[in-house]
Amino acid sequence: MDRNIDTVFTDPQFVAAPQMEPERQYYFIDLMKTLLLARATELGRKPTMHIETFGCQMNEKDSETLAGILKAIGYEESDGEDADLVVYNTCTVRENANTRVYGRIGYLGNRKKLNRDKRIVLCGCMMQEKSAVEKIRQSYRFVDVIFGTHNIYLLAELLYRREKTGKQVIDVWDKAKEIVESLPRYNKYGFKAGINIMYGCDNFCSYCIVPYVRGRERSRAAEDIVEEARHLTENGVREIMLLGQNVNSYGKNREDGIRFAELLRMVSKVEGVKRIRFMSPHPKDFPDDLIDEIAANEKVCKHVHLPLQSGSSRLLKAMNRHYTKEQYLELAAKIKERIPDVALTTDIIIGFPGETMKDVEDTIDVVRKAGFMSAYTFLYSKRNGTPAAAMDNQVSDEVAAEHFNRLLQAVGETAAEQAERWTGRTETVLCEEYKEETGLMTGRLDNNLLVHFPAEKEALGTLVRVRLEECKGFYFLGSQL
Ligand code: SAH
Ligand code: SF4
Ligand code: F3S
Repeated sequence: MDRNIDTVFTDPQFVAAPQMEPERQYYFIDLMKTLLLARATELGRKPTMHIETFGCQMNEKDSETLAGILKAIGYEESDGEDADLVVYNTCTVRENANTRVYGRIGYLGNRKKLNRDKRIVLCGCMMQEKSAVEKIRQSYRFVDVIFGTHNIYLLAELLYRREKTGKQVIDVWDKAKEIVESLPRYNKYGFKAGINIMYGCDNFCSYCIVPYVRGRERSRAAEDIVEEARHLTENGVREIMLLGQNVNSYGKNREDGIRFAELLRMVSKVEGVKRIRFMSPHPKDFPDDLIDEIAANEKVCKHVHLPLQSGSSRLLKAMNRHYTKEQYLELAAKIKERIPDVALTTDIIIGFPGETMKDVEDTIDVVRKAGFMSAYTFLYSKRNGTPAAAMDNQVSDEVAAEHFNRLLQAVGETAAEQAERWTGRTETVLCEEYKEETGLMTGRLDNNLLVHFPAEKEALGTLVRVRLEECKGFYFLGSQL
């Protein structure tokens, strides 16, 4: 939908708006600021906002951009859905994510009856689905603004349009136009932050909806990524997570020849960066020079999240993953050999069309041989429009549940075995969370394991040395040196 419709032609503010980004958005941020000041006077307090993020780290990152824009407008953060402005940044990777969102929107609608000036904004991956937007247009008329994944930077402009027209504003794009840099940013944690290095995905795994809702792969310029890392560390960030649906293909659509291993090196040279993580690489194209870079670069965490999805070569083929069970195991072995003490973690889908217990046995075999420190296990969810949804051998819920339990047991055993190996060691951890009630700090090891230990609150965000005393399966109890 074109953004220059209805009042946009007649409202002098729209006519005068700069055409270039990000200038145009700063202009709308200023206009919204004025409207919000007036509202604050009416209310006798600052209007509040609340952003709820569903889905993956990329959505989390988008939410930080949205928060940056809303804070620049003058909203105060609140943690409840009674806020004057509520944003749901949605996910559609599995059906249950959608169901949850609809329930919550209904609840918001009821809250809006108590506060007519409440604003409800829906964005994110689910909004890229025409059927979802249609349903909201028809059944949830009280929703104020709807946009998708390709134009989140327009938030201020769309909010302004809503205020000027008094009507529901829907602006969802089929594909990305430009990557807009230099928007206001807000970092949720302070000491750790994600950076998008690329958007979209071109892999089209047969079960997955992400390529349809996030569009084609686009990599950001390395200098913009390094600049963002520099900006973040100047503001106290110590750990950076480089984000993309397939980080190994970073740079494929750029001409400067900078690929992922080199990008890791560039980011690690930023003063103030203490740790770098990345998510996710794809097993089909994990180059040797990347393994060597992770091994040699002290700042790169010795943790590789390598999504397996299935250990059955037959299913992997049907999933369009471009590797076999043997190739995956070979890669896992190579990574473990060249990066001492590396932790491997993974994602697994259970119940893909045609899956039998024999396929699950293959998956379990890989779990054991690769020795995953942890695994996210998902029940296959049929996504309309994906090739797997049209396959005629869908697995029943009962069979899938049986497969799931079988896998879960193996994953639990392997994870506990892997973690146990670290008992008694002294490691550097980043202090991430402090609980007043217990006086315990939660720290994260380089390999992503967690440890709880007594500490002062002031240690939050710093790197300290901790002895791992007792293994509790997924985490440790320890003491600071
Ligand atoms: N790009 C990443 C994954 C992004 S989605 C990668 O390929 O590694 C995160 C995880 O959700 C996937 O790894 C997969 O395990 C799971 N997933 C994706 N589509 C799914 C579906 N239709 N049903 C169940 N799980 C799914
Ligand atoms: Fe989905 Fe596959 Fe792309 Fe990951 S690589 S986002 S699973 S299509
Ligand atoms: Fe969900 Fe979109 Fe991420 S569908 S998993 S939020 S890319």
